[in-house]
Amino acid sequence: MIKKGILLAGGLGTRLYPMTLAVSKQLLPVYDKPMVYYPLTTLMLAGVRDVLLISTPADIGSYERLLGDGAKWGMSIKYAAQPKPGGLAQAFLIGEGFLESQGCALVLGDNIFYGAEFQKLLTESAALDDGAAIFAYQVSDPSRYGIASFDERGKVLDLEEKPAKPKSNYAVVGLYFYDKTVTAKAKTLTPSPRGEMEITDLNKLYLQEGKLNVRLMGRGYAWLDTGTCESLIEASSFIEAIQKRQGLMVACPEEIAFRNGWIGRNGLIAQAKSLGGSDYARYLASLADGV
Ligand code: DAU
Repeated sequence: MIKKGILLAGGLGTRLYPMTLAVSKQLLPVYDKPMVYYPLTTLMLAGVRDVLLISTPADIGSYERLLGDGAKWGMSIKYAAQPKPGGLAQAFLIGEGFLESQGCALVLGDNIFYGAEFQKLLTESAALDDGAAIFAYQVSDPSRYGIASFDERGKVLDLEEKPAKPKSNYAVVGLYFYDKTVTAKAKTLTPSPRGEMEITDLNKLYLQEGKLNVRLMGRGYAWLDTGTCESLIEASSFIEAIQKRQGLMVACPEEIAFRNGWIGRNGLIAQAKSLGGSDYARYLASLADGV
């Protein structure tokens, strides 16, 4: 059972310059809330309430101001700095003390998911005690991602990071569940030609052991990109359309904490009061009223 999670919210965000010159990419808004709320609530939906957020030394303070120690949402959130963007798998070296040799979920701070029965998919994956679970999602531009290729019976054959000639259209999404061997495995990795400790290399170690479970995230899910100005606004429009239609929020940490039983009605009311006159605050107040 995975109880701990790491949220990677570092990197330089150079593709979004000048927007990310003074603000960390994962603090930019996606419609009505900071981008980091989306991956954080992914962890919450997986039942993970003990989180380590990793960001750059310059940005850590902003995340602490936004999220605090997590107590307001019935969670524990700790922080660690990554001095340079040395790759996703570095998270397990930075997080070694936090993990205390336990298994963990890793979510990338710029990955947004939405779809039916997402919580079920997550809690099933978090039930893991041996091996790793990752997710593959069909995309039209596979060479931008880590790619999984399969045989005709659906067994994963290979993983490749941003191949020039992808063997499939299945991208590996930025959400991973690992057993307690993850830190020891990460320690054996060497930097790739682009100078990063690659998550794909870590996943390959599990694949070689026959312990990599690759689940398909079907076409009914949205896995949204936030890497460019265009995809950022598309993600905002998507969230706006769903929220307006349903009157329900996507990725609202207070709501999930409340529904998970991590905070009570009084906690929800306190959060609503702390957020002034925003629509977001009114939404929390309406949840507390049971509307
Ligand atoms: O989004 C899924 C893809 O994420 C996977 O398909 C790839 O296999 C994986 O390598 C990764 O690809 P990217 O090259 O697109 O990752 P990027 O460098 O954009 O970083 C993803 C997030 O992690 C982003 O929010 C910044 C943060 N990050 C990244 C690096 C390299 C860090 O916090 N520290 C880092 O060292």
